[in-house]
Amino acid sequence: MKLAVAFGANCFFAFMLFSAAASALAEEPAGSLTAAAEKYPENQPRMETKKFGLVIHGGAGTIERTKMTPEKEREYRAGLERALTAGYEILKRAGSSIDATEAAVRVLEDDPHFNAGKGSVFTSAGTNEMDAAIMDGKTLAAGAVASLKHVKNPISLARLVMEKSGHVMIDGEGAEAFAKENGMELVDPKYFFTQERWDALQKIKSAEKSRTSGAGKAFLITDQDRHGTVGAVALDENGNLAAATSTGGTTNKRPGRVGDSPIIGAGTYANNATCAVSATGDGEYFIRASVGHDMSALMEYWGLSLKEAAQTVLDKVAKLGGTGGLIAIDHQGNVTLPFNTAGMYRGYVDPNGKFVLEIYK
Ligand code: GLY
Repeated sequence: MKLAVAFGANCFFAFMLFSAAASALAEEPAGSLTAAAEKYPENQPRMETKKFGLVIHGGAGTIERTKMTPEKEREYRAGLERALTAGYEILKRAGSSIDATEAAVRVLEDDPHFNAGKGSVFTSAGTNEMDAAIMDGKTLAAGAVASLKHVKNPISLARLVMEKSGHVMIDGEGAEAFAKENGMELVDPKYFFTQERWDALQKIKSAEKSRTSGAGKAFLITDQDRHGTVGAVALDENGNLAAATSTGGTTNKRPGRVGDSPIIGAGTYANNATCAVSATGDGEYFIRASVGHDMSALMEYWGLSLKEAAQTVLDKVAKLGGTGGLIAIDHQGNVTLPFNTAGMYRGYVDPNGKFVLEIYK
């Protein structure tokens, strides 16, 4: 039995038409804009028109306009724009959705404003532990890493796991040894220190102490203090979908705690038959709701539209008590970016090639 497929207008659009180019794509990770420009020269032959699309997020949470300074907002927007540019430059040169999502996420990992890579939050032990995953919708190949302490760009290690390890998920020291074997950039844990994340940890610890001692001192702990994540989903002009997600997890998490981002079918999922999804929010709830795979299954088995499926799974998360959001794109280039928090850092490329960046509801 199929449910009626309603074509919702909100956040949906047919994506840009662009000429297809030869798709001889090399294997090494994309990474930077310079790498993208070298790998995908503008003058590749273009034969037919096809569509592609890209959506990114930089985390959902209590993001209030009144608490944001114009300067800070500019910095967040600039970070999102750089990430969209990195992915878009690859897609418009007929590059793959895997390369585009990896490149976009690497930019966000290098930006201290976002909770991933450089800007990762702290565990209760005052350390940083990062998780990431990437999935190829064409082959259903996936790679995931968890509890990393020294890897500058966890998303690239996730990709390496997908392409070279013969496994889907590797965590901790084993993952870092695999990174080293493959010449990946490792950094001193000090690299991940940011004052803002450290202060958020102290605030949460003080709130906890106050609660357990019965002192009753009030601390305003926002979603922003607690979590955040970055992600990208893309459709390339060969019709292939990909999803990539990277995170520092949740502030004050126990060392060893793993969230939804590296769990294939929870925070990250891609299937050419349906959609590509990257989630952000309270990982425990997104795991319990099997967000990514549930969404794909609703589309594949029940015929729900992208938007209907996304809202259904987000409602399931909310019913369990979880907050957050997700970004998703389907094989036709429709996109949706729902969230149940005050805001979500997010962006996509509109049908005219214009970058749309949004933060608040
Ligand atoms: N959504 C990220 C995490 O919970 O780790």
